[in-house]
Amino acid sequence: MTLMQRYPSVADLERRARRRIPRFAWDYLVGGSGQERLVARNREAFDRVLMTPRFFVDIADTDLSMEVFGTRYAMPVGVAPIGQAGLVWPGVEAMLARAAKKAGIPYVLSTVSTAVMEEIGAIGGGHAWFQLYPPADRAIERDLIARAQASGFGAMIVTIDVPVQARRLRDIRNGFSVPPRINWLNFVQAALAPAWSVATLRHGLPYFRTVEPYVDDKADMKESVKFLGCQFTGPMSREHFGEIRRQWQGPLIVKGIQHPDDARLVVDLGADGIIVSNHGGRQLDGERATIDVLPEIVEAVGDKTTVMVDSGIRTGLDVVRGLAHGARFTFSGRSFMFAIAALGEAGGDHVMEIFRQELLHVLGELGCPRAADMDAAWLTAPSSGDT
Ligand SMILES: Cc1cc2nc3c(=O)[nH]c(=O)nc-3n(C[C@H](O)[C@H](O)[C@H](O)COP(=O)(O)O)c2cc1C
Repeated sequence: MTLMQRYPSVADLERRARRRIPRFAWDYLVGGSGQERLVARNREAFDRVLMTPRFFVDIADTDLSMEVFGTRYAMPVGVAPIGQAGLVWPGVEAMLARAAKKAGIPYVLSTVSTAVMEEIGAIGGGHAWFQLYPPADRAIERDLIARAQASGFGAMIVTIDVPVQARRLRDIRNGFSVPPRINWLNFVQAALAPAWSVATLRHGLPYFRTVEPYVDDKADMKESVKFLGCQFTGPMSREHFGEIRRQWQGPLIVKGIQHPDDARLVVDLGADGIIVSNHGGRQLDGERATIDVLPEIVEAVGDKTTVMVDSGIRTGLDVVRGLAHGARFTFSGRSFMFAIAALGEAGGDHVMEIFRQELLHVLGELGCPRAADMDAAWLTAPSSGDT
C-alpha cells in the first residue's frame, strides 16, 4: 500500500498523529482558547462555503502557482508559524522547511521556535519566512531582525494578536511547559508514545533555540520561561510597528488582523501584506471565523495590499474557498504538524502532495485552470441549496 492509499487526507494524518504523540503535546497542538468554540467555528465556516462548477473549460494545464511579494510559489498555501513545535515532534521545523522548499511553498519559522533560525534560513533560502513576536526589549528586536536578514529569510511576518497570554484550558490543566516538566503524568504519557520518546531522547528536550542567546545563562528554567513570556507577549503600537518597518528590508506582513480599520492602519504604516487570522482559535474564543471576516478586509484594503488567510484550513478545497473569498494566499498550521507527527520526515513531502492533488482536483472540477483566477464568481449564493 502506498502512503497515499493509507493516508489520502490531512484528516487521516491527524488520526495517526494523535496515536503517536503524548497527550500533553497533542493538547498543545489541537487546543484552543476557552471553550474551543472558535476552533470548531473556523472549520464549520469553511464547510459552509459552497461552490458551483463551470464546465466547457480547457483544464489540461491547470496552473496552481501564485505570485506574492515578487516570488512565484508552486501552490497558494504555506506553512504557518508554530511555536515550540519541537515538543510536538523533534526536529519538525527543519523537516517542514526542507519539504516546503522542495514543494516550492513558503515555510514560516516562529520566534519561539525550537530550532536555530540561522539553520532554518539556510535550508529554506527565500522560501523560509520569519515570524516575529515583537519583543519588549528593542535591542533584542533589532538583533532578531538583523539575524533574519543575514540568514536570508524571504519575508517577515509580525504577529499582533497576542497582546496578552492566551488562556488555554488544556494547557493549564496539563501544567504545560517547554521543556516539558518531568512528572509522573508526563512520564506515563510519554511512555505511551514510544516513537516520540525515542525521537526526543535522540534529539534532546525541546527549548527555545532561536531566542536562547537573550536568556541570562544564570537564570534557572522557571525564570527563563517567565522572561520569554514577558518579552514576546504584549500589545503593538504604531511607533513600534514603524520601527520594525524601518529595520526590515523586505516584504513585511502583519498576522492576526480582523478589523478593517486595523487593516487600513497597518497598510498606511507600510505593511506589504496581511494575514487574516485568529491564531487557529487559540487567542479569543468569541471571535468570528476568518473566512467570514476575510471579505471585509479585502473590501477595505484588497486593492492596496496582499490579503491572505489562515485558521481552519485542512484541504485544497479550503484553500480554494479562501481564494474565492478574495485571499491571494493561504496558510495552514496544524495540517503540516499532523503530517510530521504521523509519519516523521516523510510526512512533509506527503502532506504537500495531498494539497497539490486536492488543488488540482478542485480547480479542475470547478473549471478554473489558474489558481490566480479563482474568485467569487464560483461561490454559490447562500440561499441556493445549503443543506
Ligand atoms: C501549536 C501552535 C503554535 C502556534 N504558534 C504560533 C507562533 O509561534 N506564532 C504565530 O504567529 N502563530 C502561531 N500559531 C498560529 C498559527 O501560525 C496559525 O495562525 C494557525 O495554526 C492557523 O490555524 P490552523 O492550525 O487551524 O491551520 C500557532 C498555532 C498552533 C496550533
